[in-house]
Amino acid sequence: MITTSKRLNGIGEYYFSQKLREIEELNKQGKNIISLGIGSPDLPPHPDVIKVLQEESAKPNTHAYQSYKGSPVLRNAISTWYKTWYQTDLNPDTEILPLIGSKEGIMHICMTYLNEGDEVLIPNPGYPTYTSAVKLAGGNIKPYELTPGNHWQPDFDILDKTDLSKVKLMFVNYPHMPTGQLPTKDFFIKLVAWTTQKNILLVHDNPYSFILNDSPMSLLSIEGAKEIVVELNSLSKSQNMAGWRVGMLCAAKERIDEILRFKSNMDSGMFLPVQLAAAKALGLGKDWYDSINKIYRQRREKVFALLEILQCSFSKEQAGMFVWAKIPAGYKDGYALSDEVLYNANVFITPGGIFGNAGNDYVRVSLCCAEEKIAESIKRIKDCLVK
Ligand SMILES: Cc1ncc(COP(=O)(O)O)c(C=O)c1O
Repeated sequence: MITTSKRLNGIGEYYFSQKLREIEELNKQGKNIISLGIGSPDLPPHPDVIKVLQEESAKPNTHAYQSYKGSPVLRNAISTWYKTWYQTDLNPDTEILPLIGSKEGIMHICMTYLNEGDEVLIPNPGYPTYTSAVKLAGGNIKPYELTPGNHWQPDFDILDKTDLSKVKLMFVNYPHMPTGQLPTKDFFIKLVAWTTQKNILLVHDNPYSFILNDSPMSLLSIEGAKEIVVELNSLSKSQNMAGWRVGMLCAAKERIDEILRFKSNMDSGMFLPVQLAAAKALGLGKDWYDSINKIYRQRREKVFALLEILQCSFSKEQAGMFVWAKIPAGYKDGYALSDEVLYNANVFITPGGIFGNAGNDYVRVSLCCAEEKIAESIKRIKDCLVK
């Protein structure tokens, strides 16, 4: 018998991979499920971006392996994007590493820095990939709890009383997924000061800063941050390019060189036309972000209405492409509410518990779905669920 490696012990299939299969099964039975689950933009990228991909891929000389560090055109575009929107200077030659989506960067960072038994501070609730990447790399997770009372920010008083002697990395992510919490400058300053003092490498995952947020912030804009921060960013959400797999890692030259030692052994660069089209996308102006946010804002109003019907409570000040909401009394947890809505109304919403047990009493509703479908979901829920 062939056994899987020990490293896979405790690593399950990704929740959505499993759940989407179940939804497919239900659809085969004729259920016609509306999914308000996953955060994959349903809208296309800007037409100029697609034009660059088409033109460049029609050329004979764009099909070879590419540099492990990415095309200089893309690195320059990332540098200009950071300067324009985040008021942050990055050297395009040394401080930027394009990624095949930011998710792979999470794994690369863990593989680059963790030894067996090293600990990593992980947000609870938070993006599940942090946990699996740490475990796959041989590290141990040390979840830190986020609560609405503390604006979904880490409680430094509690952390100061915790044994941090084995902690090497800390993951943070603001605007936060799944809660939609925005960062403040003071909070970012505190984070940089605290991790600098504790000598913990601070990994900021920043894919949502342009969605329903007028003031995108980079943790690297904070003075002294480059000494201690690695920032991941992505074109998946802000440029509607999730399937293209383009992200970036921004940090001091030393960190980029260290992470490249691992990454250059994993892949052989990114298709050049994709990189050139991504560079085009990063050059889009305010009109682009305004146009997508207008749509998300309209959808969000409908999602608020849906959540009110379910008697959930929520803040209207959330950023990112989801609404995070507390379930009403009477449900055991978010899984119970999600299952009830799925099996009775044929609408899928994500149970908050998949992001950690601090999310158990919540659900997350995605805005990546046409307004008419959200309206149809409301109708279905009203028809079957209102008690
Ligand atoms: C918090 C967070 N980080 C990272 C990612 C991965 O994004 P990418 O498409 O760039 O790999 C996601 C995607 O859902 C996310 O929610």
